[in-house]
Amino acid sequence: MAFDIEDYLSVKKALVDRELEALLADGSKSPARLLESMRYSVLAGGKRLRPILALAAGEAVGADPEKVMPAACAIEMIHTYSLIHDDLPSMDDDALRRGVPTNHRVFGESTAILAGDALLTDAFGMLVAEGIRRGVSERVICEIVSDIAESAGSRGMIEGQAIDLALTGTKGVTLPEVERMHALKTGAMIRVSVTSGARIGGADEYQIQKLASYADAAGLAFQITDDILDIEGEGNLGKERGNDERRGKSTYPGLAGIDESKRIASELTRKAVGMLEGFDHRAGALRQIALYLGSRNH
Ligand code: IPE
Ligand code: IPE
Ligand code: MG
Ligand code: MG
Ligand code: MG
Repeated sequence: MAFDIEDYLSVKKALVDRELEALLADGSKSPARLLESMRYSVLAGGKRLRPILALAAGEAVGADPEKVMPAACAIEMIHTYSLIHDDLPSMDDDALRRGVPTNHRVFGESTAILAGDALLTDAFGMLVAEGIRRGVSERVICEIVSDIAESAGSRGMIEGQAIDLALTGTKGVTLPEVERMHALKTGAMIRVSVTSGARIGGADEYQIQKLASYADAAGLAFQITDDILDIEGEGNLGKERGNDERRGKSTYPGLAGIDESKRIASELTRKAVGMLEGFDHRAGALRQIALYLGSRNH
């Protein structure tokens, strides 16, 4: 039967949603309001692109999906924390996320900050405990923890967010500067999603390098598309449109125009698919995901 990417994405999303629900199950361990706030943003939905990429990269090298799941969910928890903080009044000051009011609008700024802090920290604890319980080797867990920490931290996503703030409202920003910001604020976590899944599946360093290049190209195309959708998105984005321009954000379409940005995004998609040439049919989902991301409308 022909591979249907929409089906693939919805089946994997359902698996990830179920795991996240179990990981953040109501219990007596966290103060009720904090846990409610964490659950609110994580379980509000989202495309689950990063965990799905981790699963698909694992699949490309024959990983057991049960073993990939803790890393996949840890990355989604970190991603969700980054969105909660990204939306704060002192950052992008946004009102809508994943189709519902932003975390701070519902729970207040201080709880939103703490929910983000907790998701980031708990992600690492869960990844280690759950990874070991499912038989991921300690060596691989150490590699992944180190990779994720680097990708999320001051030389990864947070550096990208800092550059984003520094470039906001700045005149004369160049395309290479925006590319570097995108590679860090969005690309780093997308790259580590792919490499983590592959490491759990026992990929060798050559495969990791190819998959990392795949993710870099697909991740940049993804953020360029996010910038385009902020201007002319018609699908249900679950967040407000037009805020990049209102807030003076430096974006690809802002600098290069919409048509050129679309051209660059599709060139990047082709480049991403090209990186998978040495892989067999098991990389089919990764190929389809790159193509899907290049044509998404939400
Ligand atoms: C939003 O990420 C922030 C960006 C890096 C563009 P997603 O578009 O993956 O958001 P969710 O997870 O689906 O809500
Ligand atoms: C967010 O980029 C990147 C991170 C959260 C790390 P954006 O600010 O463009 O994301 P949206 O448009 O608010 O989802
Ligand atoms: Mg932002
Ligand atoms: Mg934002
Ligand atoms: Mg955006």
